[in-house]
Amino acid sequence: MLSIIVAVAENNVIGKDNGLIWKLPRDMKHFKETTTGHYIIMGRKTFESNGRPLPNRTNVIITRDKNYKAEGCVIVHSLEDAIKEAKNDSEAFIIGGGVIYDLSMPLVDRIYLTKIRHTFEGDTLFPELNMDNWNITEKRDFEPDEKNEYPFTILTLDKKK
Ligand SMILES: NC(=O)c1ccc[n+]([C@@H]2O[C@H](COP(=O)([O-])OP(=O)(O)OC[C@H]3O[C@@H](n4cnc5c(N)ncnc54)[C@H](OP(=O)(O)O)[C@@H]3O)[C@@H](O)[C@H]2O)c1
Repeated sequence: MLSIIVAVAENNVIGKDNGLIWKLPRDMKHFKETTTGHYIIMGRKTFESNGRPLPNRTNVIITRDKNYKAEGCVIVHSLEDAIKEAKNDSEAFIIGGGVIYDLSMPLVDRIYLTKIRHTFEGDTLFPELNMDNWNITEKRDFEPDEKNEYPFTILTLDKKK
């Protein structure tokens, strides 16, 4: 199974200046719990924005640069090769960013979608979702608290068969 995991603002913004805009530790916990032990597939820019391989996961980086090296990571040169690398995983995760979400959208079975109930200025967007193609199979609401500034909802979307 191939899944996207993403956090999106109300206006579809997902990033700015090659970084995340908001700080929501509760959503980071969900990301960690969901992806730990699995393959995570990302664009080179998202990898550099993280600054290091994420622990306890197989980090697969997509780049056109044939000389690209990143210690502790698997480097590939297409999304297809990234998916091949992860073929024995029960669930592999596309973790961004905008370009890689766009490319993988037609191929994924599931989307873990964190919808932040706030708009942000940014330069990277998540592709428009056609909800005719997706069933909402799980929905959890989170209200702001001392550590999480914005309200958000975590949805699981499964592709209609
Ligand atoms: N909110 C969220 O959940 C979330 C999650 C992840 C990332 N983000 C944000 O998204 C932003 C980064 O996204 P982005 O769209 O700029 O970049 P990206 O998707 O992370 O990476 C783009 C890079 O991937 C490589 N690539 C793309 N298509 C390729 C192809 N067909 N074949 C081979 N390589 C290919 C290229 O690397 P080379 O240039 O090396 O060839 C390209 O520059 C950041 O702001 C980050 O914080 C947000």
